[in-house]
Amino acid sequence: MARGAAEFLQAHWRGLDPYDAAEPPETLAERAGVAEEAVVKLNANENPYGPSPKALDALRKGGRIAVYPDPAQTAMRRALAAYTGAPPGQIVVGNGSDEIIDLVFRSVLAPGDRIVNTPPTFGMYDVIAHICGASVIAAERNERFELDVQRTLDAAEGAKLIALASPNNPSGNASPQADIERILEADCIVMVDEAYAEFAGRSVIPLIRRHPNLIALRTMSKWAGLAGLRVGYGVMDAAMADALMRGKPPYNVSQTAETALLASLDDAALLNERAALIVQERERMTALLAALPGVEPLPSEANFLLCRMPRGRGKAAYDGLAARGVSVRYYPKAPLADCLRISVGTPSDTDRLVAALESALG
Ligand SMILES: Cc1ncc(COP(=O)(O)O)c(C=O)c1O
Repeated sequence: MARGAAEFLQAHWRGLDPYDAAEPPETLAERAGVAEEAVVKLNANENPYGPSPKALDALRKGGRIAVYPDPAQTAMRRALAAYTGAPPGQIVVGNGSDEIIDLVFRSVLAPGDRIVNTPPTFGMYDVIAHICGASVIAAERNERFELDVQRTLDAAEGAKLIALASPNNPSGNASPQADIERILEADCIVMVDEAYAEFAGRSVIPLIRRHPNLIALRTMSKWAGLAGLRVGYGVMDAAMADALMRGKPPYNVSQTAETALLASLDDAALLNERAALIVQERERMTALLAALPGVEPLPSEANFLLCRMPRGRGKAAYDGLAARGVSVRYYPKAPLADCLRISVGTPSDTDRLVAALESALG
């Protein structure tokens, strides 16, 4: 009998560590022994207000579901050009920005190539680099989770790509433009993941004109409340966009996701108002958390914040919140030990979170 399929895996796939993804609400509800609707889900930086009414209307009307989507992404690229200010030929739309990370990495990384990561940060850069057989050089952030620019540049010697998120997940802080401009002097791709840009109110996209090595990633998952539909995009030099368009799966973004993206961009003013509400709520949540003894929320420019629990109490705080139906993200390892990442929800979500945390910490 032939060997099993898994026997043929490439060596670097064998012990692959998967991305540590957020639990869905039904699993959380089962664990906490509460109804799904009673779960306060603050573990995946989703938008508490959901999709825009125009997007929901368009989805209800349906789309041309029996027909394949446009592989050239003409309508989406045009609409995103108007939204971002970049030409349509510099935009590539993906099945979430995760797919753009995957496309960029697969297009440039051969086994043995090097990339620079700036941990603690979003886990997918590491996972996809390993899938490509690349080695990941860590240029650790400093104790305030700011980029160490010189360390990042030194690590980039001979590397093909630097991946950095701004605002960073899970620390919430954004990098000053001057730091990013210094990093752009490196002779490699600099991929700046701006999944949370709409909450920070700034973007590196205008820098692409002067820095053809810059790739900016954006998503409709956070700002536009479309996480479940999977649609994100990359903005980059036209030659790189062309290359990714040639290599991407032809129908990578569904008709449904396209319908929702176009209607959301048409409702950008309302989505921006909601983003402003979330930012306002983040500041209220920061003040309420800071008032709890031993609890230290860190400054954030995103729709979540990283919060230190009293020393040695991180796991207890996480478990205590889960038992009370409040789900957040927990990081067991240094330098995040005792930290929780908490998404910003509605004001009533914040009130439930704070009451549950107070009770969990006794
Ligand atoms: C920094 C960062 N980049 C990318 C993503 C993935 O976004 P998408 O839903 O567009 O794949 C996330 C999701 O949490 C994120 O935090």
